[in-house]
Formats: sequence, structure tokens, C-alpha cells
Amino acid sequence: MHRTIDPTILYFGTPVVLLSTLNQDGSANLAPMSSAWWLGWTCILGLGALSQTAGNLLRSGECVINLPSEQLVSHVDRLAMTTGRNPVPELKRGWGYRWEHDKFGLAGLSPQTSEVVRPPRVAECPVQMEGILRQSLSFGKDVDGILFEIEVVKLHVEQNLLNTSGPKPHIDPLRWRPLLMSFCRFFGLGEEVHPSRLAESLFLRDKLGEDLQDAAGANLAESEAQV
Ligand SMILES: Cc1cc2nc3c(=O)[nH]c(=O)nc-3n(C[C@H](O)[C@H](O)[C@H](O)COP(=O)(O)O)c2cc1C
Repeated sequence: MHRTIDPTILYFGTPVVLLSTLNQDGSANLAPMSSAWWLGWTCILGLGALSQTAGNLLRSGECVINLPSEQLVSHVDRLAMTTGRNPVPELKRGWGYRWEHDKFGLAGLSPQTSEVVRPPRVAECPVQMEGILRQSLSFGKDVDGILFEIEVVKLHVEQNLLNTSGPKPHIDPLRWRPLLMSFCRFFGLGEEVHPSRLAESLFLRDKLGEDLQDAAGANLAESEAQV
């Protein structure tokens, strides 16, 4: 039986992102966040309007979306309850947030120069996406949020995560171990639970640059063999 409930947060489980942006004085800010999803080469980010990162993004229009693996969880956690905004907004001070200027130092992570944008990448993160702000939108009924549409303009991936057997190198989901946040707690991925029709489809083969004629033939042979 279902119950109707009224919780304060609905964080159902999304990848943790370390977002680097530039402060007004040119120094780098680094913020953990997890309201992030992708479609094509567009990433949508949801950020509280009080964050230093939201202000930096609106002003500079640039960021790096760094994805930590689950092994980096203790580094990510060191950044929790900190803000690059000084003075700390009253509301966040009441929640226990403190100002921290050197976020990279606090997290024990290293800045790495980006190729297209000015904010640095996080060297230890196996996936790094340089991004340009395309548009933003205020949202939220019970949250003062800003939604950011970011175009990924350069993607850097740790070599050992790549499947290079096809015409287009791509991330092998069996090697990529993302860090996830669900209801404010950290999790990794479990094991694969079921074969995926989408992963086997011509849609994905097309996206991976595979020969669709061959793939369609293989699919047909496969389904004929099953009949
Ligand atoms: C794992 C994790 C995930 C978070 N996810 C979000 C999020 O999705 N959106 C958001 O606005 N804040 C999120 N926060 C809180 C921000 O990190 C916090 O607002 C922080 O002060 C932002 O840093 P800044 O003010 O230097 O930009 C998250 C914090 C942690 C530790």
C-alpha cells in the first residue's frame, strides 16, 4: 500500500559533480552538487541562487563539470558545508556553512588547466567537461533555484575508462564507477541488473558510429535465430 507523504527533499539519486568556476578575483571555486543531467552534449544543472557558483556562472558564463569516481568520496565530503561566498549568506550560516577560499586545497584536489574555458579542471576526476552557459532560468516553489543550460564544449576522459574497439571511443559503463548522491547520502553503482534493449538498439549503435547495415543484419540474424 502507498502512503502520501510530504518530505522536504526529493533527491532520488543522481551523479555527484564537482563544479569549477572562477571567482570575481580570478581565483577558482569548486562546489559539490548533484542536481545534474545530460541530453546529448547539453547538461542541465540546478543550483541554489545563494551559492557562489551560481553567481560565478551568471557573471562569467563558464564552468567545468568534473565527475568524481566513487573512490574520491572523502575528498568530495570535505567540501560539504562550505561556500566560496564571503560573507556567508545569513540563511546558510544558520545551517552551519562556513566560508572557504581554497576549495581545491581543502579537498586535497589539484587544479589542471582547461583547454577552452578559464576555470580549471579537477585533475583527479576521471571525467571532465568544459562548459559554456547557454541560458539560465529561475525556478522553484520552495527553493530559490537557478537552472543552468550548459553546452559541453570539450570532454576529457581517463583513458582506462574507454572502450576503443569501435570507430568512436566511448565510456565503457562497466569501467565507469560514478559517485551518486541519494537523499544526501553517498552511494556507488551496484552491479548491472538486466540486459538492456536500448543498449543493443540501432539507436545506440548509430551513436557509437557502428555500421548500421551490418548491425541491422546482425539484429535480424539474432531475432531469426530466436524464432
Ligand atoms: C554531495 C553534495 C551535493 C550537493 N548538491 C547540490 C545541488 O544539486 N544543488 C545545489 O544548489 N547545492 C548542492 N549542494 C550544496 C552546495 O555544495 C552548497 O550550496 C555550496 O555552498 C555551494 O558552494 P559555493 O557557494 O561555493 O558555490 C550539494 C552538496 C553536496 C556535499
